[in-house]
Amino acid sequence: MKITWLGHSAVKIEGTQTIYIDPFLSENPAAAISPEQITKADIVIVTHDHSDHLGDAFPICKKTGATLVGIHEVAVMAESEGITSEGMNIGGTIDVKGVKINMVNALHSCERGNPAGVVIEMDDKTLYHSGDTSLTYDMKLIADFFHPDLSFLPIGDRYTMGVNSAAKAVEFTKTKKVIPIHYGTFPLVNTDPEEFKKRVGDRAEVIILKPGGSYDLQ
Ligand code: NI
Ligand code: MN
Repeated sequence: MKITWLGHSAVKIEGTQTIYIDPFLSENPAAAISPEQITKADIVIVTHDHSDHLGDAFPICKKTGATLVGIHEVAVMAESEGITSEGMNIGGTIDVKGVKINMVNALHSCERGNPAGVVIEMDDKTLYHSGDTSLTYDMKLIADFFHPDLSFLPIGDRYTMGVNSAAKAVEFTKTKKVIPIHYGTFPLVNTDPEEFKKRVGDRAEVIILKPGGSYDLQ
């Protein structure tokens, strides 16, 4: 399974299906690609409707025919624009094109519905993308239920966890590998991923990517 960080919270996961999460690209100063470069997508997941997450999700779905997955209120909005959508809510699990998507809690804000994280199960791998969130004790449930092989956790501070709390989130979720996200995009979220790596220590493998960089999850 090939994992690519596209900058900020945007990731691309290529396995049996090609999945994009929070594809904030055209307005993202750190974006590795432009939305125009995306020609294939099966599923686009939006964790919440802040513009740095909803981003180019709708145009990408319209262009590629991908199914949009998001919380009910965001899915309704997508549907009103003619996009094939799967609405869900926190606590639910759905199957989209053979991929299991579990929506989990995130402690944050948004315009429509609630912010969320997702746990994705595809090709015998389990991936957790927390969306924007504070550290919460709910993350211990991620460890109990899912044992993530790899997690995407924000470390940029101010709007989300910073390096200290994200390192604690690694402990709570018992994730085996972690890719830090939501940092370096703007001056307000400039934190040091090496500092995060230091604080995680030997609890998990920290994979620091540059926007556009990929990791092959075995
Ligand atoms: Ni947000
Ligand atoms: Mn954000």
